[in-house]
Amino acid sequence: MEKKPASGPPELPCLASEQQLRGAVRRLAAEITAGHGESAPLVILGVLKGVVIFLADLVRHLPMPLEIEFVKARSYRGTRQQDIEILDDLDDLDLTGKDVLLLDCVLDTGRTLARLRDEVARREPADVKTCVLLSKQCARLAPVDPEYVGLEVPDVFVVGYGLDHDNRWRHLPYVAELKTEEHRGEEGKE
Ligand code: IMP
Ligand code: MG
Repeated sequence: MEKKPASGPPELPCLASEQQLRGAVRRLAAEITAGHGESAPLVILGVLKGVVIFLADLVRHLPMPLEIEFVKARSYRGTRQQDIEILDDLDDLDLTGKDVLLLDCVLDTGRTLARLRDEVARREPADVKTCVLLSKQCARLAPVDPEYVGLEVPDVFVVGYGLDHDNRWRHLPYVAELKTEEHRGEEGKE
């Protein structure tokens, strides 16, 4: 029987091309390298699941010794925000005396990173910094001011390069806007 060719993902409006993402990742790696003191070991703490592709690309441009850890947090169901859930026990990680770089794919309300930064700070690291690939131009609901920002994007729901909508679209090699019914009605965010 003849095999059907696999159909690619449908085209969505691109907000950050593969080339723009590559450039942003390289620049972030250079800034992180310049900002890292030699004294303490570096732990990259990635926020699952959205960060996987960004993290994989970023760490390959970092020359210093480092450890990679993950924490799983969830703030969206579909395109609706809900309470932040940290789905891992951070107590299993030894962060004492280490330089921690919290890494997330997108900064939206800021609640996820603000909460995680507090949780990390309580574990007596030498230093905590935050890095996001994308920063949405929107009102923050929590005070967070990342040391490293890749690209500014408008306040729309984005997918691709690790970012999902109900666990879909993470594999798009670029970042695209996803227009959903919830967002068209401006009721996606609470
Ligand atoms: P915040 O807590 O509102 O800053 O949201 C951060 C988290 O929400 C990220 O780690 C993402 O998992 C998720 N998120 C925020 N905006 C988007 C988006 O536009 N698309 C997909 N996920 C998003
Ligand atoms: Mg998600």
